[in-house]
Amino acid sequence: MEFEQALRERRSIRAFKPDPVPEELIREILEAARWSPSWANTQAWHVFVASGETLTKLKSAAPTPATGEAPAGPDFRMPREWPPQLAARTKQLSFLRDAFAATGGEAALAPANFYGAPCVLYFTTEPAIESDYLLFDSGLLVQSVCLAAHDKGLGTCIMAMAVRDPEALRPALPGAADQRFVIAVALGYPDGEAPINRFERRRAQLEEFVAWVR
Ligand SMILES: Cc1cc2nc3c(=O)[nH]c(=O)nc-3n(C[C@H](O)[C@H](O)[C@H](O)COP(=O)(O)O)c2cc1C
Repeated sequence: MEFEQALRERRSIRAFKPDPVPEELIREILEAARWSPSWANTQAWHVFVASGETLTKLKSAAPTPATGEAPAGPDFRMPREWPPQLAARTKQLSFLRDAFAATGGEAALAPANFYGAPCVLYFTTEPAIESDYLLFDSGLLVQSVCLAAHDKGLGTCIMAMAVRDPEALRPALPGAADQRFVIAVALGYPDGEAPINRFERRRAQLEEFVAWVR
């Protein structure tokens, strides 16, 4: 696949086929993605590849601790509000909320079920490093994974919503106790027929965000 074609075609997949992804294929994706750049080549990232029984456990991970206390919240701050010009762009996705609300949240393709993906990759970082650039580095790795997956005919959906409550995830992922959760990526074979994977996406024109300073 041509590089530019991969960049333009990759899109968030929100309806997956149940077919499992061979571990060898996931390994190839990660082998390619590990060449992503990072601050001073630190590569302070970790990836947990969850499938099978572990994924089943994660799907049912209680969003609220058994103590009844409020969840501690995500490891990295998430946006609450956007300025109007950015909020306007999110409107294009508002139909997704309705589409999934209609599934009652329990359906096989609901967000809580990772849209039916047979595999989810959790991206975490080292706990003790005080730098927002860890997120930047993880983002580069995630984009590489998504592009490499697309190149192999797989689909991905980056999911911040899946790491809102890291305390609920840690028990199912050995070694994650002291890690900070950045993001999850659902991975699997896309259902090419599902309208939710086919709607037209928009992007800002260059004029809206590029300044040519001569
Ligand atoms: C940091 C980040 C968090 C995201 N979280 C979610 C999510 O929780 N659920 C979801 O369905 N999509 C999520 N997305 C996907 C975005 O909605 C999507 O990338 C954006 O609408 C552009 O569409 P495209 O990926 O199809 O090009 C996330 C994307 C990013 C980069």
